Amino acid sequence: MTDMLGNMRRTHHCNELTDSDIGTEAVLAGWVQRRRDHGGVIFIDLRDRNGITQIVFNPEENPTIHDKAHTIRSEFVLGVRGRVESRPEGMVNPKLKTGAIEVLIHELKILNKAETPPFMIEDTVDVSENIRLKYRHLDLRRPGLKKNIITRHKASIAVRNYLNANNFIDIETPFLTKSTPEGARDFLVPSRVNQGNFFALPQSPQLFKQLLMIAGFDRYYQIVRCFRDEDLRADRQPEFTQIDMEMSYVGEEEVMGISEGLVSSLFKEILDIELKLPFERLSYNEAMDRYGIDKPDLRFGLELKDISDIVEDSGFNVFSSVVKKGGIVKALNAKGCIDLSRKEIDDLTEFVAVYRAKGLAWIKVKEDAWQSPIAKFFTEEEKNALAQRIDMAPGDLVFFVADQPKTTNEALGHLRHHLGKKLGLIDDSKYRFVWVTHFPMLEYDEAEKRYQALHHPFTAPLEEDYDKLEDDPLSVRSRAYDLVLNGSEIGGGSIRIHQRELQEKVLSALGMPREEYEEKFGFLLSALDSGAPPHGGIAFGFDRLVMLLCGQSSIRDVIAFPKTQRASCLLTDAPSAAGREQLLELALKVMSGN
Ligand code: AMO
Ligand code: AMP
Repeated sequence: MTDMLGNMRRTHHCNELTDSDIGTEAVLAGWVQRRRDHGGVIFIDLRDRNGITQIVFNPEENPTIHDKAHTIRSEFVLGVRGRVESRPEGMVNPKLKTGAIEVLIHELKILNKAETPPFMIEDTVDVSENIRLKYRHLDLRRPGLKKNIITRHKASIAVRNYLNANNFIDIETPFLTKSTPEGARDFLVPSRVNQGNFFALPQSPQLFKQLLMIAGFDRYYQIVRCFRDEDLRADRQPEFTQIDMEMSYVGEEEVMGISEGLVSSLFKEILDIELKLPFERLSYNEAMDRYGIDKPDLRFGLELKDISDIVEDSGFNVFSSVVKKGGIVKALNAKGCIDLSRKEIDDLTEFVAVYRAKGLAWIKVKEDAWQSPIAKFFTEEEKNALAQRIDMAPGDLVFFVADQPKTTNEALGHLRHHLGKKLGLIDDSKYRFVWVTHFPMLEYDEAEKRYQALHHPFTAPLEEDYDKLEDDPLSVRSRAYDLVLNGSEIGGGSIRIHQRELQEKVLSALGMPREEYEEKFGFLLSALDSGAPPHGGIAFGFDRLVMLLCGQSSIRDVIAFPKTQRASCLLTDAPSAAGREQLLELALKVMSGN
């Protein structure tokens, strides 16, 4: 059998040859990273998945091949045969694994030519992300991005090894399915066979994994794609991957224990780091109180302090009136930041305005007095109480926000992260994990004018809060838990409701009429009636985990073919218009767009 490669079957990859191979013959294949002509001799850096080897064309050794080598350009694909030689004195590159040798070529096959690439295939190249995404196949040739994708592969193996060893069974669940409520919009797929009807792509396998517990599989996992049509950010994609797990006959402790084992085996395997177990825990209320956010970055301090009680009756009307209207006033002490300029404080005021804060009051603590637009409103007694509560010392700059709790916390929680970065308080080499527990079951959605599940509607309430479900639903706490790493939510799960009666009660508390929940979740309700075991689980954001393992700040850098912020694929130009025939078959008519 002949093919283009002929006798050019690789003997080595481009990272393999070292001085112990000197004198032997080798066949290599790969792309041209760089061609340099040095006084007649041509040097090429040949690149493959594994590394780079320098190959040499010498006109005195082999003039015909040397002439052919002149036509070679960047990114051409070559097959070469040659003799491994030591590099001349002074040419050794100790940074490269193959830096002690070069291969003197006596047989060359140009396996393919290549257009000049739109950017250099190098990690240092400065090119817009959109160009990188349009030519993703070239972008992926760059060693940094390639390394991320390979790390992702290794992480996936480590996850599987750990879960397989712990008796989990990998089971696939459907993509063409019914709406699964995780709080985002669904992607719909029209059915040709059942015209006018639609599948929804799953936002997660939530209901299926519960059904698998009811079916008796005991422990399930899946590394699975999920689909959510939501506003995108650096850590959100419309399709992303979860490590999805579910376990029978467990409570929070077992799920958290298995999760900690999983994450620590992953960190050991990929980064050779031993994590300290168990991870810290914070209740949702404590996280909100101290950090203003349910995914706090614990690598630095700057904790918030509630001062509502101190300022409630003060002469500063902005603060006192907010407290009287059910709001809160909180302070953030930026220790030692007294030298921030007015302009910088104004910028921070604009920063918190994005989170709807109406202002950002501040106090600069000098040796003998406070410098502040609001100091004059407080009595000596109030000042002393504030100084003590906020731990004020000369050199400090304290910020205040007064508003309804949600806005105050959101504004100061984000300001805390912003200052942590700006002031260089974050140690990038640290990994700080924290479980956030006891989330509220429900929140009130102002826009929709109804309650919504904070996690999802299948999460069990805390038993001691059952009786508040009807009369005081907002005070009901749930058995949900999130795992947070360095301020990023990497996983979330809960103990589930496993009895129909309670499930119906929760769906009713969400304001869902019986007909609606029967239509949407009737299959789950009837399954709960068929002997559902107590169960619970969790899902990790695999892309986010890998992003953090790779030290990246966007999940796009650990996904081979990600979408842009505008949810499109620049490489394939998806989404695109459907043809007339296709639409006819689906009985669909497009009302706008093109
Ligand atoms: P949740 O909605 O919290 O839980 O999702 C679990 C984890 O998935 C990641 N994640 C995302 N990653 C990238 N892009 C997105 N758009 C995106 N959305 C979520 C996050 C998150 O912590 N069914 C439940 C799990 C359970 O209860 O077992 C669920 O999906 O890291
Ligand atoms: P004013 O009396 O509106 O000039 O505000 C005095 C100071 O209080 C300014 O520094 C404002 O930024 C700040 N301020 C106004 N409203 C609020 C608020 N809701 N929370 C915190 N600070 C505020």
